[in-house]
This record gives sequence, structure tokens and C-alpha cells, in this order.
Amino acid sequence: MPRTEIISTGFHVPANVVTNEELTEWWDTSDEWIRERTGIEQRYWVDKGKEAGSDLAAEASRQALERADMDASEIDCIVYATLSPDYYFPGGGVFLQRKLGLAGIPAIDIRNQCTGFVYGLSVADAWIRTGQYSRILLVGAEVHSTGIDYGPEGRDLGVLFGDGAGAAILGPTEDDGRGVLSTHLFADGKGAEKLWLGAEGGADYPRLSKEDVETGRIYPTMEGREVFKNAVVRMPESVMVALEANGLGAEDVDLVIAHQANLRINEMVTRRLGLSDDQVYNNIQQYGNTTAATIPIAMDEAVQKGLLERGDLLILTAFGSGFTWASAAIRW
Ligand code: UT7
Repeated sequence: MPRTEIISTGFHVPANVVTNEELTEWWDTSDEWIRERTGIEQRYWVDKGKEAGSDLAAEASRQALERADMDASEIDCIVYATLSPDYYFPGGGVFLQRKLGLAGIPAIDIRNQCTGFVYGLSVADAWIRTGQYSRILLVGAEVHSTGIDYGPEGRDLGVLFGDGAGAAILGPTEDDGRGVLSTHLFADGKGAEKLWLGAEGGADYPRLSKEDVETGRIYPTMEGREVFKNAVVRMPESVMVALEANGLGAEDVDLVIAHQANLRINEMVTRRLGLSDDQVYNNIQQYGNTTAATIPIAMDEAVQKGLLERGDLLILTAFGSGFTWASAAIRW
């Protein structure tokens, strides 16, 4: 059975840079607080109402196609990870498909928030190994800036998130030893309300009320400390599962790309795994938390900076809303 290789990557963020300082226009916050607690220095936000997640995804996908020297028509499946689809339904995947002119091929949405890209990788990997599809476009794309509470209550979450998209083109490889070695997925719904958007869903009647808008129920909420505590345990755990499943140790790792939710979380993960700083790639400083897009954006940056070379061992790990968490081991 072939393995799945990452043929190429790409990413795209909106043109509009928003610094920490600029956020003080809406919220009682400071550059110092945001940097100290999260490491974030800036993020990119869309031109609101003019750019959607699928637009960012299309740009990221075109870049990945160009780097692979492929025509979009060679893609035979789209896997689209997002928590911020352009519309409640249909999912974002079909809008990306339309923008790329790919009518007829399947487009599946993955709704696993920060873990969405790794969940999507697992699905795509299984399809490629069994031969069901041979050129899968896997995307993580988010637009958060249109769903943030710009009132005083919104500062906790508002300062954290950025907009962006990352893409990877996946295909089979017969080159023994290379490709996706394993993926491991986990979830525990007991933590669902710790980080969620508790309104506008099918459980509500009416789904959306004037009161929801007035009380701010339409915005996401998070118990930050609780999420933090779980993230620093679950991500290292999932990395250890990935290493053990492949008979490898921390010393074998060339690069870890962890979900970019908080630089402090990733520093703790690095320490808990006994890794050195140069074994871990972080870029939250520039992009903020782009949920499903953080890993493919970081992966593409790492490739462009020459931090990933053929044969390197790359470990991906993520934790987020659900709770869900996941890891992947990839021989680049
Ligand atoms: O991507 C999905 C997964 N998400 C995560 O993994 C995020 C996990 N959580 C975190 O990263 C951190 O909990 C945060 C960065 C979100 C918050 O940091 P914290 O150290 O846990 O702060 P806190 O929420 O406990 O708040 C500390 C103080 C509070 O004030 P008092 O009660 O001490 O007076 C907050 O009201 O900081 C205040 N605060 C702020 N101050 C300035 C909260 N948000 C802000 C803000 N600017 N934006």
C-alpha cells in the first residue's frame, strides 16, 4: 500500500495587518499584556464583508498548485477544515471548489476547529492509501475577524485570533519510508462548553434571537485557563503516541509544528517533551491564532525557510475546541 506524501504547500493571509496597539481602539488591552500572555504581536484581518475564508483558501490552493506545477484539474478531492465557513450551510469546501473551477469532485468539510487540519490529514491519508483518491487538496481556512465581539466583553478572545488559510496537496508515494507514517485523533466532548459558540445552532429555538444579539450570545466564549491546562497535557501526550507508534523518540524529531494558540503553551509543550527550541517552529507572533489554518501556514513557512528537508521527521500536534486533539508523524 502506498503512503501519502505532501507534494506541496501554500498559504495566504489578507493584506490588512492589525498590530496589538491598534486593538486598543476597541478594547481595554495593551501590547504588553498580549505579548506577555500569548506571544502575539500582530495578526491579519480580512476586508470585512469583501473576503471570505474560501477566498483565502483559493489563494493558498493556487500557490500550492503552482509550487507542485499542477493544474487545478488534477485535483480529485477537496478536504476543507474550518470553524468559520462562509455560510452556516453548505460548507466552505464547495465555495472553494467553485472558485477553483472543479465541478464534480467531492468536497468535504471537517469541523474540528483547531484540530481540523490534522483530522483532515487523517481522512485524506486513508483515502490516498486505499486508492480512492490520488490528488487531494487539504485546506485549513478561517475568518475570525467578522465574528468577534468588538465591545468591552470581547477582549479576552478578540485579541487572539487572526484570519488566514493554508493548503497542502497530497498524493501517494511508493518511496518507502517517506510520507505520513501515522495519524492519531482524540476527542472528549466533556469539554465542549469550555470553548464554543453556544448560540445559532440547531439546539436553540429560535436559532437566533434578538436577545442573543443583545446579550452577546452570538460570540464565542472560552474558559482560557481550563483550555490552557488541557492543551499543555494533551499535545505532548499526542506527540508521544505518534513517536511510540513509530518506534521513535524525541531525539529523532527534526521539527514539531504545534497548533498556534499561545506561544506560552508551545513553550511548555517543548519543555515537557524535552525538545530544544530549534526542533519546534512557531509563528503565532505574526499571525495570531488562525485555528484550522495555523498548522498548514506554519508548515508552508517552514518549507520556504528551508527548515524541512527530504527525509526529515515532522510531527504535527493540535488541541482545541471540542475538546479535540490530534497528532501526525510525517517523514518529509
Ligand atoms: O485555539 C484553541 C485553543 N485555545 C487555547 O489553547 C487558549 C488557551 N488559553 C490561553 O491561552 C490563556 O488562558 C489566555 C491567553 C486566553 C488568557 O491568559 P490568562 O493568563 O489565562 O489570563 P486570564 O484569562 O486568567 O485573565 C487574567 C487577567 C484578568 O483580569 P483580572 O481578573 O486578573 O483582573 C482578565 O480580565 O487579564 C484580563 N484580561 C485582559 N487584559 C488585557 C483578559 N483578556 C485581556 C486582554 N487584555 N485582552
